[in-house]
Amino acid sequence: AKKAVLGPLVGAVDQGTSSTRFLVFNSKTAELLSHHQVEIKQEFPREGWVEQDPKEILQSVYECIEKTCEKLGQLNIDISNIKAIGVSNQRETTVVWDKVTGEPLYNAVAAPVSPGSSVPVAVVPSGSSVPAAGASSVWLDLRTQSTVENLSKRIPGNNNFVKSKTGLPLSTYFSAVKLRWLLDNVKKVQEAVEENRALFGTIDSWLIWSLTGGIHGGVHCTDVTNASRTMLFNIHSLEWDKELCEFFGIPMEILPNVRSSSEIYGLMKAGALEGVPISGCLGDQSAALVGQMCFQDGQAKNTYGTGCFLLCNTGHKCVFSEHGLLTTVAYKLGRDKPVYYALEGSVAIAGAVIRWLRDNLGIIKSSEEIEKLAKEVGTSYGCYFVPAFSGLYAPYWEPSARGIICGLTQFTNKCHIAFAALEAVCFQTREILDAMNRDCGIPLSHLQVDGGMTSNKILMQLQADILYIPVVKPSMPETTALGAAMAAGAAEGVGVWSLEPEDLSAVTMERFEPQINAEESEIRYSTWKKAVMKSIGWVT
Ligand code: G3P
Repeated sequence: AKKAVLGPLVGAVDQGTSSTRFLVFNSKTAELLSHHQVEIKQEFPREGWVEQDPKEILQSVYECIEKTCEKLGQLNIDISNIKAIGVSNQRETTVVWDKVTGEPLYNAVAAPVSPGSSVPVAVVPSGSSVPAAGASSVWLDLRTQSTVENLSKRIPGNNNFVKSKTGLPLSTYFSAVKLRWLLDNVKKVQEAVEENRALFGTIDSWLIWSLTGGIHGGVHCTDVTNASRTMLFNIHSLEWDKELCEFFGIPMEILPNVRSSSEIYGLMKAGALEGVPISGCLGDQSAALVGQMCFQDGQAKNTYGTGCFLLCNTGHKCVFSEHGLLTTVAYKLGRDKPVYYALEGSVAIAGAVIRWLRDNLGIIKSSEEIEKLAKEVGTSYGCYFVPAFSGLYAPYWEPSARGIICGLTQFTNKCHIAFAALEAVCFQTREILDAMNRDCGIPLSHLQVDGGMTSNKILMQLQADILYIPVVKPSMPETTALGAAMAAGAAEGVGVWSLEPEDLSAVTMERFEPQINAEESEIRYSTWKKAVMKSIGWVT
């Protein structure tokens, strides 16, 4: 059959906490042409520890690229039309690897990518039972709590030392303390640093280094958005901060080069897309902000993934929150383009609570089933579920919190618990929206949303009810990938995406209006707050 004729195409890797995706978009309409998704294992070797295997992550990227290209072939779409690739990724998750062998340094098994071959080398044979073995410390991991406590006792000057430079509170969430833990506890990491063989990176750096050749000349870089989540990056000067590196005891030579979010970093070295430039890189939440076209001061989006992250563009100004929000780099779309900042409300557990109901309690078999259960009852019947599995993030920043389910009666069944889990996601969003409104002064008139969970109509309606403002979602929920593709396609030397609204003609919007009365919404919210207070102080 004749190959379909299309405009230039752009691919995007979306490497999230729960899964990896590769998606291909038409750069003239933003139509999603094909994609493939692979779920990623998460290991919980001890209470509070969350680990993943960087090689499994890398392999999943190759697998998704190959499968998507096969699917495009079946649609008669020529993959030579793919002009660029963007990368968006789970942020903060920390990897240290050996630049000589290509192996992550906290992992037992390795076989580096061979860039010379025309097909990608599966670094972990699929279906193998290689343990994750803590190769990367995931953003949700709590093992560094004592490191954080010790560091907070010796903050130089005033308590604002870290926050004023990075926009972040001292927390287990960010990479610097995870890296400190690896340096303190993993002999291989210590030796590699001494022998000048160690490289540090968040997932974007690990992927770009590997995809552009790994030990055969891979490019060791990150972008300003990912760098801004390490707690080592000065968000004013846009450089690694010497004083912060000294404070955390991090050798600066292992840090990646910091680049803009939209420029050619290097070329794919293997696989179906060998030779295609990688020219976009954004932490997933920044990518979603771009994908939602939140380019103006005051525009905000909320993405429902493993966690839930509300970002509001504050333009060229760094706005510091009085209400528990983070200040972060939103994006910098080109080497010579200005930087934009955002205020961020981070919720640790959103989609992860559904995964927990599936994997730990077994009350659903697939994530989609949650909607059916919740619909059966249409209420939590007074049951409240605070999923503080990793403590509470914004606006509380309370590591002592743990998950609770309360308000149970003999009448409560799994459907009510399912409903309460969905409500929890919405209440947590309400808490960060309230904080955002207080910090920004002008309340948001509606909320732009995206991410996998937004296909759940009950969740969307509940969200509108609990926020008491309309919720607006795009017909195509893969906004994170779209943002990375837009950044890649707009890069100098690629130039196939204009970043104008007309290039998103394939994306339509659906709107959910509040359907309950304001009083009922407030009563439910204040009961939720009571439940939150019970979850705090659970561990000491
Ligand atoms: O900060 C963590 C965040 O980037 C993870 O995103 O989509 O995996 O929940 P997600």
